[in-house]
Amino acid sequence: MRVEALSLEQLRERSSEKWREYPADVLPLFVAETDFPLAPEITRALERAVAIGDTGYVASRTPLPEAYAAFASRRLGWTPDPARMRPTADVSMGIVEILRRVIAPGDRVIVTPPVYPPFYELIAEAGAVVERVPLRDTGAGWELDLDGIRLALDAGARAVLLCNPHNPTGTVHSTASLTALAELAVQFGAAVVSDEIHAPLAQPGTGFVPFLSVSDAAREVGYAVVSASKAFNLAGLKCALMVTASEATARLVRALPVEVEWRTGQFGMLAAVAAFSPASDPWLDGLLVALDENRRLLAALLAEHLPEARYRIPDAGYLAWIDLTALEWGDNPSRRILRDAKVALHFGPAFGAEGAGHVRLNFGTSPTILTEAIERIAALR
Ligand SMILES: Cc1ncc(COP(=O)(O)O)c(C=O)c1O
Repeated sequence: MRVEALSLEQLRERSSEKWREYPADVLPLFVAETDFPLAPEITRALERAVAIGDTGYVASRTPLPEAYAAFASRRLGWTPDPARMRPTADVSMGIVEILRRVIAPGDRVIVTPPVYPPFYELIAEAGAVVERVPLRDTGAGWELDLDGIRLALDAGARAVLLCNPHNPTGTVHSTASLTALAELAVQFGAAVVSDEIHAPLAQPGTGFVPFLSVSDAAREVGYAVVSASKAFNLAGLKCALMVTASEATARLVRALPVEVEWRTGQFGMLAAVAAFSPASDPWLDGLLVALDENRRLLAALLAEHLPEARYRIPDAGYLAWIDLTALEWGDNPSRRILRDAKVALHFGPAFGAEGAGHVRLNFGTSPTILTEAIERIAALR
């Protein structure tokens, strides 16, 4: 199925954050919402719910765990046990609630910057303190700094908040580094919370390795938090799943207050079941093709119009991490780009000190909008 982004005129009718934060002359490529129409199966599920007023609380038993298990088996190469999953309102909430239970107040939790900015706040919300172990730049890509993580765990850090695939670099972590991470966590008695929200968007050529699939050690220490919300653009509907794969971790998640589950959105649950169903596979395949074309188009546009920019094509998702240091537009080039080019990008420094001189660009849009954005930015040179 061919999946094509909507026109700017259609998109401006939307009222979500992406389309309301800035005035109409700004091209918004900042927040992680996408510009595609909904997958038809999701539209059908939501239209039906509206038609019959199915707008109450989410039920205590839903088809969602089975739907996700089947999706993971078809598309991610592993089959988690639906009995060891629990829904919650969003991935952020799942991360906070799990962290609260695996650490004591004041403990340190490792993050791997540059990383999704709210991670810093979620760790604080869970009562913990951020321990930074930046990703290693290998020259060809990024990887976990396992020596750094070992040192931090040895010095007392109690958990690792992993982002896989990684936001903002789009890195899919390798089986070898995830396996080694799990062994370190077992050795030091730490937990690993793996945010896998971008996993459905791993490009087929790269594949994706779910943390809980790599080893018994990973299943012993790991918690995955997953959602259909990034791939299918459902963030406003509020539904995610906490996934575990051992008796002890499943028990911890089952023991979370019922409110953690109760806040799941009914529309989010209905939409997620539709998203994870086989009927949505052709749409997701079409989306991956569109994103594959865009991640390459971006490389070509930068090479042609902004050759100072350094960008590595991501393995997954629709976020591009672009190093603009050579342009000498300061630590936060997105400010100048917003003011003078009227293109809204995410601020590099928000992702950690490593983000100085960088921007994050969301290419989950049409080739037309992407091209215009880069041409506007390049005109500032
Ligand atoms: C890595 C990552 N985690 C979590 C979120 C937020 O997810 P949610 O809205 O389900 O809390 C995002 C949103 O872009 C993200 O990129």
